[in-house]
Amino acid sequence: MVGATLVWSSFFSLAAASYSIRPRVLHSSRSDTPQGFASLGAAPVNQSIKLRFAIASKDAPGLEKALLDVSTPSSSNYGNHLTKDEVNAYLAPSDEALAAVQSWLTSNNVTATASGASGDWLTATVPISKANDLLGANYETFQHLDSGKSYARTLSYSLPADVAAHIDAVHPATSFNHPLSIRPVLSLPQSKKKGGKKGGKKGSNKDGNSNSTSTADSCADTITPTCLQSLYGIPTTAATESSNSIAVAGFIEQFAQKADLQSFLTSFRKDVSSSTTFTTQTLDGGENTQSPADAGVEANVTYQLDIQYTVGVATGVPVVFVSVGEDDQDGALGGFLDIVNFLAAEDNVPQVMTTSYGENEAGMDPALAVKLCNAYMGLGARGTSVLFASGDGGVEGGHSQQCTTFQAAFPAVCPYLTAVGSVHGTSPEIASDFSSGGFSNVFGVADYQADAVAGYLKALGSTNKGLFNASGRGYPDVSAQGENVQIVSGGKTSGVAGTSCSSPIFASVIGLINDELIAAGKSPLGFLNPWLYSNAAALTDVTSGSNPGCGTDGFPAKEGWDPVTGLGTPNFAALKAAAGL
Ligand SMILES: *[C@@H]1O[C@H](CO)[C@@H](O)[C@H](O)[C@H]1NC(C)=O
Ligand SMILES: *[C@@H]1O[C@H](CO)[C@@H](O)[C@H](O)[C@H]1NC(C)=O
Ligand SMILES: *[C@@H]1O[C@H](CO)[C@@H](O)[C@H](O)[C@H]1NC(C)=O
Ligand SMILES: *[C@@H]1O[C@H](CO)[C@@H](O)[C@H](O)[C@H]1NC(C)=O
Ligand SMILES: *[C@@H]1O[C@H](CO)[C@@H](O)[C@H](O)[C@H]1NC(C)=O
Repeated sequence: MVGATLVWSSFFSLAAASYSIRPRVLHSSRSDTPQGFASLGAAPVNQSIKLRFAIASKDAPGLEKALLDVSTPSSSNYGNHLTKDEVNAYLAPSDEALAAVQSWLTSNNVTATASGASGDWLTATVPISKANDLLGANYETFQHLDSGKSYARTLSYSLPADVAAHIDAVHPATSFNHPLSIRPVLSLPQSKKKGGKKGGKKGSNKDGNSNSTSTADSCADTITPTCLQSLYGIPTTAATESSNSIAVAGFIEQFAQKADLQSFLTSFRKDVSSSTTFTTQTLDGGENTQSPADAGVEANVTYQLDIQYTVGVATGVPVVFVSVGEDDQDGALGGFLDIVNFLAAEDNVPQVMTTSYGENEAGMDPALAVKLCNAYMGLGARGTSVLFASGDGGVEGGHSQQCTTFQAAFPAVCPYLTAVGSVHGTSPEIASDFSSGGFSNVFGVADYQADAVAGYLKALGSTNKGLFNASGRGYPDVSAQGENVQIVSGGKTSGVAGTSCSSPIFASVIGLINDELIAAGKSPLGFLNPWLYSNAAALTDVTSGSNPGCGTDGFPAKEGWDPVTGLGTPNFAALKAAAGL
């Protein structure tokens, strides 16, 4: 392998005759072009590529300990969240690591700039020829067959032995993420299942029993803020704490429309001012254009969803729309990195962050997945509850082609965040068939969930044996309503479905509990999972339904935790009590 990479290096270093040969070690590789992609041949050597180098943190395991210490209710440090400097002390690279990587880059005439809240990233834009030299790589142009988009990736790369230990990952290299920012959300699941028209608001629910006016409060037919308040016991009175916030992560192609929010509030929250709004933070050239033409009306309904089900449900909690610009060659993955680094750099982090995007875990370089997951760990340690939609492909994960084994979704599988699945129906609630869930191949089962997961696996018996990794972190953690959720987009009301509905709804519940905690002079909830798993009775267990895929029935929901609905759906009063309120 070392020999082969040396051959590539000298072959591609046409411009760098004096390329110095240092012993190399293979750092990341894939055996073949991933399913769903085709190689179009060597990437043009003069094409430029923005390389991000993830420098090894000083003490990520130490941060995990600190995170669990402040997030586990039985700990005497529960709620004593870390400061930015305290987190950075764990996540920052050592001086030695940084110097070694910088000196390697400098000796190759590459100028890199430090980035990341903890200084644990270096970024350099270089021609492909230089990237091939530097990384002993063979960048090819890969086309993503579904979208037709192409980008440069390599099936392997190697590093000089003396810097390899200091670099966790390089991106873009061996991660074959979706080249578009894909929301695990659609208006399709409900139509797929019920044979209705896409996005139709016709009440064709299988209960089929009613007219929307009479059911608006009950959630029996359509999901609205009012019905969620009644179903989950969510208060209607306004939160009071201005230091509290919920951040909604978004990408450049979609826009949160203030006009639609106003119509939504006028229709569905008659008890609050229709001018209630949100603030926007932008990075990487992200924006929040307010022209209806830019909203793409019907097609891009989904931001409306996140904003309407935070502003419209977490009454009075400040909502911040964090809009990241998008590199059109890198989908959401670069955006994930940039958003978490952006928030981590702030002196005051949002108490809740909800994101409705995801990737297939199998497409990720595992080391990059770990690095990004550690950044969420840093946010959690500072007191942010990080929530992600679990994905809308059932056991097929985010957006896969054919599958021979179940596909997990990333970042949902990261053990330092809370993954939210979907349910429908009311008495009882039933798992949505699109609700992604399962087990990670990268992250092991987390301690806080070990008993819950073992209980499920025991009850599952031999079902799906060999199709999933029984030692992996199980997800999702919780769930909430996710079908026929009413939104206003482009002035029109329609129903949408997806775990993208469920994550903002759960985020709103947490935002409102945080408001009461802050008002009582207590810490916000921060990283939720140890608290949730030790207060499982504060959630309504969902025990029916399943998430079929890959030619199987998927995982059945069962009593206790399951990889379709997690621990269950929110019971506001019980969660409040569990929070000591
Ligand atoms: C890259 O090289 C090709 C072929 O030599 C040339 O046509 C093209 O203009 C070059 N592109 C850049 C950005 O230099
Ligand atoms: C770096 O640049 C110098 C001066 O242009 C050149 O002599 C040297 O070969 C370059 N080294 C590499 C590794 O590209
Ligand atoms: C729904 O409304 C229609 C028209 O107003 C009425 O005919 C029908 O009986 C209603 N159905 C139910 C279940 O209330
Ligand atoms: C957003 O809308 C535009 C215009 O209708 C469409 O081309 C684009 O694919 C949509 N993006 C997403 C992510 O749905
Ligand atoms: C199963 O998951 C564990 C993490 O718990 C991982 O180390 C292992 O490589 C995974 N197995 C496969 C076949 O991916």
